[in-house]
Amino acid sequence: MGKVTSVSIQKGGPGKTTVCRNLGEEVSEAGFKVLLIDNDPQGNLTKAIFGDELPPEVMKVTEAVTSGSQKVAPGVSNTFWLYEKDEMPEPFKVTENLYIIGATKHLAEMGTKAVDCVYEFKDKMEVLAGEFDHVFIDCPPAAGTLQTAAHGSSDYLVIPTELNEDSIDGVKQQLESAAANKKRLNPALDVLGILVNGKDSHKINIEEFHLENLKELYGDKLFEAVITHSVKVSEARSFNKTVRQHAPKSVQANQFLALTREYLERSKG
Ligand SMILES: Nc1ncnc2c1ncn2[C@@H]1O[C@H](COP(=O)(O)OP(=O)(O)OP(=O)(O)O)[C@@H](O)[C@H]1O
Ligand SMILES: [Mg+2]
Repeated sequence: MGKVTSVSIQKGGPGKTTVCRNLGEEVSEAGFKVLLIDNDPQGNLTKAIFGDELPPEVMKVTEAVTSGSQKVAPGVSNTFWLYEKDEMPEPFKVTENLYIIGATKHLAEMGTKAVDCVYEFKDKMEVLAGEFDHVFIDCPPAAGTLQTAAHGSSDYLVIPTELNEDSIDGVKQQLESAAANKKRLNPALDVLGILVNGKDSHKINIEEFHLENLKELYGDKLFEAVITHSVKVSEARSFNKTVRQHAPKSVQANQFLALTREYLERSKG
């Protein structure tokens, strides 16, 4: 069975999608068969792969364009179907080793559905884990049905955080949610690591203070790899590339490689 990892924290913006995209594609380039699952109705991971023009496999137009508007529905490679009874989405092949199941706004409906859909998701993830070496689930920035489904189906959590009070508070809340989901839904769930993202490349006192605090609280649960802040990271997103594809010689490209090595080492056991 492949390893399923949720990239998750119930806080907006510390880099869940960026980590999912870059780590996922690096693991695929290391020779593993990887599936990315966009589990956020914002669809940012999907847009990071395809840009704004989504293929019909992810989102199909069901009614002709009238005065600039069109009706759209989830295509066969849409996360929506992971939550629906008697439906199974088809992973979309991006490169030789990289596949995606993409998200659109339709996924927001699932937040209002009965608890059954969490078990639908879990059953289908078991099938998909049998077909891939590594699966990465990009989670939305809130606790709720979508996050619960992801935690209920994962072996591991990777929790990205920035070095500020609100984000570190988000780590604490995420660990509480994860502990509740482990107890109620998925005893196999484990925190693989907490990742510092967006740190300034220079030493800044307040960031060093928060980093020490994180080390004290979580010890070796912190990844040794740290991703520093750089415009190369947001540029790569704008060009729908990984940081290494966009800026192979950048510090951040090497940091993502270091994270990939650490991920592969930690997820072996
Ligand atoms: N290390 C970094 N350096 C510079 N920009 C970064 C870095 N990491 C992420 N970003 C940028 O910050 C923004 C937020 O990142 P991202 O979308 O990955 O966060 P998120 O946690 O998925 O957000 P959301 O909670 O909305 O899903 C993006 O524009 C991204 O390009
Ligand atoms: Mg995101």
